[in-house]
Parts: sequence; C-alpha cells; structure tokens
Amino acid sequence: MTHANQIIVQVGLGKRSYNIVIGPGSLHRMGEHLQALGLSGKVGVVTNPTLARLYGASLKRAIVKAGFTCHVLSIPEGERTKTLRWASSIIDELVKHRFERRSALVALGGGVIGDVTGFAASMYLRGIPFVQVATTLVAQVDSSVGGKTGVNHPSGKNLIGAFYQPSLVVSDTDTLQTLPRREWLAGLAEVMKYGVIADRKFFSFLEDRMEHILDMRETDVQAVVKRCCEIKAKVVAKDERESGLRRILNYGHTIGHALESLSRYRKYIHGEAVAIGMVYEALLAHHLDLCPAAVVDRQRVLIQRTGLPVKMPSYSFSRFWGAMGHDKKVAGGTIHCVLPRSIGNVRVLPLDLRAVRRWHAQVS
Ligand code: NAD
Ligand code: GLY
Repeated sequence: MTHANQIIVQVGLGKRSYNIVIGPGSLHRMGEHLQALGLSGKVGVVTNPTLARLYGASLKRAIVKAGFTCHVLSIPEGERTKTLRWASSIIDELVKHRFERRSALVALGGGVIGDVTGFAASMYLRGIPFVQVATTLVAQVDSSVGGKTGVNHPSGKNLIGAFYQPSLVVSDTDTLQTLPRREWLAGLAEVMKYGVIADRKFFSFLEDRMEHILDMRETDVQAVVKRCCEIKAKVVAKDERESGLRRILNYGHTIGHALESLSRYRKYIHGEAVAIGMVYEALLAHHLDLCPAAVVDRQRVLIQRTGLPVKMPSYSFSRFWGAMGHDKKVAGGTIHCVLPRSIGNVRVLPLDLRAVRRWHAQVS
C-alpha cells in the first residue's frame, strides 16, 4: 500500500498487527500517526543526545501539534545504556509524569534505543503502546520490526527481554542521511542477509543496484527498506517467538557473534561481524556439500563491493568453537547454524564438531 511518497508494510499478527511506515519525512507526520492509533494524552519520547539534537525538536513539534503532551527523555549514547538500570530510569520518568495505559512511549533512534525503550514499555503498567521511530539502517530493516525488546546482562548481550510488539514503526529514510557511514554500511550486511535467506530476486536487485544504494539514492533506499521489512514481517507473522522459521534471520550471526565476542566487541560493529559471518557460514555450507561454490562467491563479491570485511582473523579452533557455543541460539548444548543451500534458500542445522574442525583447519 502506498500513501504519496510513503510505503506501508503490514506485520500481520492478528489483534497485534501493525504498520511500518517507510518514506522521507514520515517523522514529521508523527502526530497524525499517533492519532490514527486512537491514542491521546501523554507521549514520552526516549532518545539520546545525538538524535535529540538532530530530530528531537521536529518530532516533538509534530506530536504537540496533534494535541498530545510530549516529554522527551534523553539517555546516554551507546550499547552501555541497554541495561536494566536505564530501563528502570525510563519507567521512573513515566511514573513521575503519571503516564497511563493509553499514554504512549516512542523510541527515537537505532536498535539500542528501540530495544531498551520497548522493554520499558512492555513492563510499565504491564504494557503501554510503543512506537519505534527507526533512525539507523539496522533499525529500519531489522530491529524495529518483530517485537524483540530487551537489555544486556553483565554476562551476556540481550539476556533479559520480552517479545513485545510495537503499535507502529516509522522509518523516515531522510534520517539515514546523517547516519555515520560505518553504521550505514553495517546495516547493508543485514540487507544482503535477507536476499540469501529468502529472496534470490532481491539478492540480484542488490547486485544490480549496489552502486546506487551506496550513493543512498532515495528510491533504491526505500525499495531496500521495504523489501527487507516485507521479508521480516512474513517471517515474524509465521513464527513470532522464534520456535522455528524465525531462526533463519540469524544467518551470519553464529560466526558473527563469535567474532564480536572474540574481539571483545572492539574491532567490529555488529554488521561488520555479520558480513564476515555470512561468508564463512556459506563456506561451511559449501564444505558440507550443501551448496555450490557460486553461493559463497556471489556473497563475497557483493559484500566486498560495499567495503565491508570478508576475512576472518585467525583464531584457534577451541576458541572459535567455544565462542560459537556461547550464542543464544545453542539448544540442548548443540550449536545450530543457518546454512545456505542456494541464494534465497537456507536451512538451520546442528553442527558436528569434527566436521567444523576439519573445515576450520582449511579456512584459517
Ligand atoms: P545504535 O542504536 O547503537 O546506533 C548506532 C549509532 O548511530 C549511535 O551512536 C546512534 O546515536 C547513532 N545514530 C543513530 N541514528 C542516527 C542518525 N540518523 N543520524 C546520526 N546518528 C545516528 O545501532 P544499531 O545498529 O541501530 O543497533 C544495534 C543494537 O540493536 C544492538 O544492541 C543490537 O543488539 C540491537 N538489535 C536488535 C534487534 C531486534 O530484533 N530487537 C535486531 C538487531 C539488532
Ligand atoms: N534480529 C533477529 C530477529 O528479530 O529475530
């Protein structure tokens, strides 16, 4: 469905279905969007100092213009605010301003702000309406959609959280213009992932249009965000709580998470580690005779064109296997990994230690 220059993708979850509004300037229509949800009264916007400076005033203006009272809460920047303490601080603010069940919480930012704000919204009064205004490519194509909210525990990322769907996602593609280039490229890893897991035509589109996408040409960027959201919406609608199909969204992440952890979260940002993870999970699939070499080569070539890394640093097998074993997706002690059969088709399979060790000796 299209409204002027806005694209709408629906996430179909029965009574909890919601729209993703994609397009330039959609943030400035936030008041109308909130009214359309039947909300009134108080709105809390959670953001960080960078985004408050860039978009806080215009978002607040749009909300107030529609008759809402708006409180903006800026929390410090970065992954370190994804904690129970900051989720609790958000709730303190809601209590202070006497937020009610029909009041709404809006997350203005990337995945960090979205995850912690969504988690606070899920807890306050057993759940108040929550809207994501996604400002990074990662958030627009992945984290704002699907209802995974949460915070980190000192012993691991995203260990505390809830499935709590937003009432609306607004992806204003104009906001991507101010995103640091490194963050933009990291988001492209997640974009390419969607092609491999679910849509070979989309992967070919990325191969054809990558130069325009890298130039951030508006129509291409919108097309990319739209297609990724459509794929994610379809997967989430079939398997909201990740009991099966949703695991395919973790392609590139078993090795990617291992690399982030082995490099102590300093060397790579998430999408960079996922890019390497995609190449090496494809190499593993090829080693296991699940896919032809072309499936690896096409991914490596496309990823290299974006400038994202494709080469894994050398780690001993025991450290590598140990780090993969800390992934949340380990079930009953067995490491499961998403492995491609072809571009557009993947399987989730348990990994055999001996087979992975033989492969690791060849690639490291
Ligand atoms: P982020 O939220 O940390 O944002 C990256 C940086 O970009 C921050 O410094 C932020 O202030 C800045 N920024 C954001 N938007 C900007 C803009 N438009 N202009 C200028 N600067 C901007 O990074 P991210 O990649 O969006 O999110 C990573 C987080 O998302 C991780 O915590 C990860 O666990 C989580 N995540 C969650 C899901 C999910 O399904 N819930 C999925 C993927 C990732
Ligand atoms: N980012 C993976 C998921 O939402 O399931």
